[in-house]
Amino acid sequence: MKKAKSTPSLATRAIHGTKLYAYKGPVTTPIYQTSTYRFESSEDAVRYAKGDPSVYVYTRYHNPTVRDVEEKLAVMENGEAALLFASGMAAISTAILAVTKAGNEIISTPGLYGGTYRWFRDELPKSDIAVKYIHPDRPAEIEKLANSRTTIVYFETPTNPTLDVVDIEAIVHHTRKAERKTGKKILIVIDNTFASILNQDPFHYGVDVITESATKYLGGHSDIMAGAVIGSEEYIKQVKTLAKYHGGCADPFAAFLLGRSLKTFELRVGRQNQNALALAKALEKHRKINRVLYPGLPSHPKHALAKKQMSGFGGMVLVEVKPSKGKSALETAAKVCDGLKVAVNAMSLGGVETLVSIPVYSSHIFMTDKELKTHGVTPGMIRISVGVEGVEDLIADFEQALE
Ligand SMILES: Cc1ncc(COP(=O)(O)O)c(C=O)c1O
Repeated sequence: MKKAKSTPSLATRAIHGTKLYAYKGPVTTPIYQTSTYRFESSEDAVRYAKGDPSVYVYTRYHNPTVRDVEEKLAVMENGEAALLFASGMAAISTAILAVTKAGNEIISTPGLYGGTYRWFRDELPKSDIAVKYIHPDRPAEIEKLANSRTTIVYFETPTNPTLDVVDIEAIVHHTRKAERKTGKKILIVIDNTFASILNQDPFHYGVDVITESATKYLGGHSDIMAGAVIGSEEYIKQVKTLAKYHGGCADPFAAFLLGRSLKTFELRVGRQNQNALALAKALEKHRKINRVLYPGLPSHPKHALAKKQMSGFGGMVLVEVKPSKGKSALETAAKVCDGLKVAVNAMSLGGVETLVSIPVYSSHIFMTDKELKTHGVTPGMIRISVGVEGVEDLIADFEQALE
């Protein structure tokens, strides 16, 4: 896809968005906390119907605070256009349904956020939409599975919660080959939530669409729900049409907080990268830890691939504890989480505070043993979303909880 001009650095784009010119007015975009807009004259309604973007009519359609953040996200992520939603799931579901109807098929990898995986498994078949899975290390399987009904290849990397790294370039390569075979456009969609744009630029590799739970690193303070879809102008237009009907529009106040958070995005996520690497290194040496999975560790099975396609390794770390004497792995993991004093035992990720969760109790709670095996999830695993606290305090906290 065509890239927006992006000469200023990510930090600059995250602060100023498109406003790199002299302007008169407030430095921060105010919160337009309104559901509707007064017309100067009824002519405005006609101008809106004809597509004049300067006419606002109703916040489910658009809102100046929301639009400001959408414009900023598009330039941050090197896309043509972006849409903001009420949550990551609203963004993902609308992005997919905008181009997928009954009888169509999606190709995916099993390492998905639990909510997405369950939506694919339990809900999409009710609308006669099938999801077929490839092995993440065998992207050529896309060519075998694709047919004229395939509309989307959807994947995540690094994956939740096991932090597997999927080869973005290979996914794109085999999807394009599959397109030549079927003669139909297949949209490549990536959920870039775990890496975020600071660490991974999917458009650089030819991905068509980025979805993101802005609740996580973009929001960064565990205080909003939001989601984003970024892509070509033409595709975003299609998504917008459906978004108006499905109604998962972003709330102006949440959009305001998100716009505020983006100003420190580069600082926060940069610090999270550093803290995560230091914590992962410290925990890897701990005698009560079986293994640490972090793409930035040389011991990670896909470290070389991570180094190739990521510019930083992110703030997510997965550890597997050794069962304590007389306790199961799950009981031991629960005891460690309950014993933490700095890190917080809570779901979600990406905030400034370090959060821990046990995948079999959270994202993977409703999965069968077979599914857990496919996803590589074991009961002793603790997922850590590393925050921006003093890293010595975090290391000491995990050491005391493990003891
Ligand atoms: C990778 C990933 N994608 C999407 C989502 C869904 O986002 P939201 O909770 O904002 O709907 C989550 C939520 O945890 C996630 O971890």
